[in-house]
Formats: sequence, C-alpha cells, structure tokens
Amino acid sequence: MRIVDLINKKKYGEKLTKEEIDFIVLGYTKGEVPDYQMSALLMAIYFQGMDKEETSNLTDAFVRSGDTVDLSAIEGIKVDKHSTGGVGDKISLIVTPLVASCGIPVAKMSGRGLGHTGGTVDKLESIEGFKIELTSEEFVQNVNAHKMAIVGQSGDLTPADKKIYALRDVTGTIDSIPLIASSIMSKKIASGADAIVLDVKVGSGAFMKSLEDARMLARTMVDIGSHLGRKTVAVITNMDQPLGHEVGNANEIREAIEVLKGNGAEDETEVAMTIASYMAVLGGAYKTVDEAHTFFDKLIQSGEAIEKLKTFVEIQGGNPDMIEHPEKLPVASKHIEVKADLEGYVSGFDAEKVGISAMMLGAGRQKKEDPIDYAAGISLKKKIGDHVNLGDVLCVLHTNAAETFEAEKMVRAAFAFSAKKPEPVKYIYEIVE
Ligand code: URA
Repeated sequence: MRIVDLINKKKYGEKLTKEEIDFIVLGYTKGEVPDYQMSALLMAIYFQGMDKEETSNLTDAFVRSGDTVDLSAIEGIKVDKHSTGGVGDKISLIVTPLVASCGIPVAKMSGRGLGHTGGTVDKLESIEGFKIELTSEEFVQNVNAHKMAIVGQSGDLTPADKKIYALRDVTGTIDSIPLIASSIMSKKIASGADAIVLDVKVGSGAFMKSLEDARMLARTMVDIGSHLGRKTVAVITNMDQPLGHEVGNANEIREAIEVLKGNGAEDETEVAMTIASYMAVLGGAYKTVDEAHTFFDKLIQSGEAIEKLKTFVEIQGGNPDMIEHPEKLPVASKHIEVKADLEGYVSGFDAEKVGISAMMLGAGRQKKEDPIDYAAGISLKKKIGDHVNLGDVLCVLHTNAAETFEAEKMVRAAFAFSAKKPEPVKYIYEIVE
C-alpha cells in the first residue's frame, strides 16, 4: 500500500477501506507516515467527507492506537457523558451525583480547561483537598461502593488522535465533522464507556455555530456509537449565552450546588436534568426519560442530591464542609461591577468572549502549562431577554489580577442589546438517537 494512492483515492471521493485507514493512522502514530502526507489526506477528508463506515473505522483505529481503560471490574453499564465544550458548563458536576443516586456507575475521566472553555478537573480542584488522581484500585472501589468517581486523564489514550489533532490545528482541518466526531468518540470509547450521552453545544460559545452543523455532528457521533456497540444519544443544547450565571472554577461549583439544592438557574437545571435522565435510561435504571426526570426532581427536593455531592467530594479526599458552606470556597480579593451604559434588552451574547474574559481574570489558561486562579470568574447578572436600565450591573468580575481593563473591555463587547424584547431562548433544541 502506498500513502499517495490513498490520498488520491480520497481526493477523488472514493471510500477508504478499514485496512487502508488502519495503515494510515497506525503508520502516522508510529512516525512512519510524514506530516506532509497526513496533512494532504486530512484536507482530502475535509473536502470529500467520510461515510458512516469510514468514520467508525477511523474512530476504531484511534482507539487501537494506544491504551484503553478496562472498567470490567466495575459492575453495571458504565454511562459517560461528554460536552463538545461551552462557557459556564458545569453539567458534569451536577449529573454525576444524580446519576450515581439511581445506581448507575459514573466512572469518568475529565479534562482541564484551555482557552475560553473550563474543565471539570480544575473546577473540582477548587474544593480543598479534592484529589483528581486516584489509583486504579481507589477508582474501582469508589465506583463500586458509591457509583461515582471523576479522575484526570491518564495513560496514553488515543495517541493517534492527539497527534492528528495537533496537525489539524495548523492545517485548517479542525472544522471537519467526520474528524471532530471520530476524535471525540474515540476518547470516550478508549475511556471504557458502555453508553454515552453527548451534549452537543450550538451557538456563539460553541464549536458548532449553526443548528444544521450541530445536527450533523450529533448524527455522526450517534452513528459511530451504534456501529461500535456503544448506545449513544446526543442532546443538542444552546450555547448562545453561558450556561447559568456563573463562569470560573469555584464560582461554578457554587452554582452546581444551587442546582442540586433546587435553586439553580432554569437553563442549567433543564440541561442537567435532561442529560442525567438520558444517562439513567441508557444505564437501564428507568424505561423512560420522564420517569428518570421525576426521580431526579424528588432527589433534589428531598435533599438527597446535595448529600450525594458531599459524599462524592468526601470519597475523593475533598472537604465536604465546602459544599455545606460554599462561602468557604476560594473568594477573589476584587469584585468589579460592569454597568450598562445604555437602556434596552439583552438580545444576544458572544459567549466565547465571556469565556476569554474569565480566562484573562485568571480563571483559565491560554497555554496548557499556565497556572489558574480558582477564585477568578464572572457572575452574569443579566442574560438574554432581561431588561437593562442605564447603570444596571450587567456582570461582576471576580479576580486577584492587578490589571482588569482588557477583561472588562472584552466582557462588555460580549453583550448585545436591542430596543425590542427578543424571542425567548430555547435551552434544548433536539435529541438525536
Ligand atoms: N474536541 C475534540 O476532542 N476533538 C475535536 O476534533 C474537536 C473538539
């Protein structure tokens, strides 16, 4: 087999076989295929696309390129969730104790934040003592005993995806649906998931800017899941504005606590309950999403949901007192109010700009090795549809940084206003299964 023949094949829109995909992917991972040939092939895929079978074979090759997590010592159907990335997205923190409460094992690997999006691992580390690294024995023991554990990524999972993603980043081939879908699904499958609920975000703060693209990405990932024997459901959710009101690490823990106590923002609560309900159904705890939803409502009202979060924190070495008293979580030294200089309705957001502003305040990283400030973040006081008078507080910036001018300018630019009240925002667009 010659790589150049395979590049030509894809260039003319023909289908690559499983053997050909393996040859390219595994060869590239070992360094036997040079970057220039892989780049040419990625561009051919970008323009010609891949069908269901090719995309599944590509995913499978990524999975086989490295280590895989063996969760066979954990009883039950292991259900994972994945978000395609957004601003203020604290859904994992909410659904983990909820889903675990109905007996479904949540054995999760999560990432750190980069750029405008946060990471679950960083948020959890804002809780005093919380250990994100567990031994395999501790991980299995926690999931078997309490049905939940979240750890940072470890091991050499999907090295082919890592190497190809870095190449896509510099060759203009990131925004290809088969490449995004296989990249995401390979990581979930290598992490040992039996079933997967995907939160596909669409809007100004998301990878997918149009509903049509989000739908196509969702369909492609669900098809990969069924092709590779993993029950998969995708929930397409709105990311035209940050989820909830809080952005930043400790801030987001505080907001997750409020949702689990029944005082959460409407958008955050609806998205979390929907994702948790689909996880419960895929895990076999309930036949219908409505039944699961009712169970979670009761769990929140009875106070058991917040108790389960405390248990989760405790079994990973964290201080549960911080859940009981969220005011003990890290607090910044400065709280800067950003006030409206006009009157009208908030009509839109550039959610990515809110994420970048939070990063500038210290809540996120520009580069992988940058330190973060758990106390830094943004509290949004106005969201789409809210009326604003001159001088009203739009948001509050929390920071320990000396310089805040650029962050303030950025967050101001994130708000759009109109004289007329905008249409109500939809939180969930569609379910793809
Ligand atoms: N997230 C991923 O993990 N991979 C992509 O290709 C895009 C987003």
